[in-house]
Amino acid sequence: MANIRFESVRKVFGKVVAANDITLEIKDGEFMVLLGPSGCGKTTLLRCLAGLERVDGGRIFIGERDVTDLPPRDRKIAMVFQSYAVFPHLTVFDNIAFGLKMQNRPRDEIKRRVEESARLLELSDLLGRYPAQLSGGQRQRVAVARAIVMQAQVLLMDEPLSNLDALLRLQMRAELKRLHQEIRATTIYVTHDQVEALSLGDRIAVMQSGRIVQCDVPMKIYDYPANKFVGGFIGTPPMNFLPGVVRVNGRGTNVVVGEAHIAPASSIAPALAAKNGQPILLGIRPENLALASSPQPNTIRARVLVVEPLGSHKLLTMQVGDEIAKVSVAPDERVAPNDDVWLHFDPEKIRWMDASTGEAIR
Ligand SMILES: Nc1ncnc2c1ncn2[C@@H]1O[C@H](COP(=O)(O)OP(=O)(O)OP(=O)(O)O)[C@@H](O)[C@H]1O
Ligand SMILES: [Mg+2]
Repeated sequence: MANIRFESVRKVFGKVVAANDITLEIKDGEFMVLLGPSGCGKTTLLRCLAGLERVDGGRIFIGERDVTDLPPRDRKIAMVFQSYAVFPHLTVFDNIAFGLKMQNRPRDEIKRRVEESARLLELSDLLGRYPAQLSGGQRQRVAVARAIVMQAQVLLMDEPLSNLDALLRLQMRAELKRLHQEIRATTIYVTHDQVEALSLGDRIAVMQSGRIVQCDVPMKIYDYPANKFVGGFIGTPPMNFLPGVVRVNGRGTNVVVGEAHIAPASSIAPALAAKNGQPILLGIRPENLALASSPQPNTIRARVLVVEPLGSHKLLTMQVGDEIAKVSVAPDERVAPNDDVWLHFDPEKIRWMDASTGEAIR
């Protein structure tokens, strides 16, 4: 079994706490994505697991083994680094074979395993080439093949697609997913690209300033962000936030947003009622807002500022009171700049957040 456990792991660089009390379990065979902005501690966490950094506190387990004090070579981990490097003076075959040669494996075993890895990454026809004769995507695949050829139970990948153009990224993303389905190594994959995270992860751990702020399956992270940071980090464009005030009266619990009264879903109304009179944030994704031509329950007045036809949908930039909101509508929606419309909120899709802490109310 190669499940991975971080228990209260802490890593400090001078005044920077790069990993702050990280507790996380990754199941055997799971594909876990670490997602977060630059500098939040993603690489640090991988390096601690790989044994390239000593932790300042906590323990790390792989299966039943406490690896916290083991040197890297004894941890049985393969890693694709952020600045993936292939050896320019070695052929693709020798690049992939490198780690096995270091282990003095027999020649026929090396040949067999290199050919198997090359097949998985569709490099079979390129084994004789040098890196300079490869495209960026092919080079990146060599770096991945070099890691998986080691048949480690744990595979760490630090932004392996970061150097690729958008189209190649898309292609490689699907290839990595297929690869994982085939080899089933316990994988930790680092990215700051939220689309990649949603697409690849069995689960996503969202990091901010050295901490994990939410860890869950992708659609839970998308639909139920734990706080404003997560809602604002995930989604293109991200979640909209509009300020409001909770008001409880004879007609029940409402949230006053500008001139509009929004009736929260019944499941969340009691928790909101407890915040009567307090400021609150209404979080809603662009695709959960709809245009209406007349005022209805749960609508708010808005003005269209910008219309962007994006093929599969239209993206609208709207003025809502003092705020700007992004709204995604069908490609054939008839709408033009300066239109005054009503925006309809689906109460079931609203994620209410505490205005002072940014934490979701539940
Ligand atoms: N060797 C080091 N010495 C000093 N500070 C470091 C060192 N390595 C990382 N840090 C700091 O620790 C924090 C976390 O860095 P880390 O490389 O883990 O971030 P990251 O999430 O991987 O970011 P990126 O997406 O930019 O790669 C940053 O503030 C960084 O400056
Ligand atoms: Mg990094």
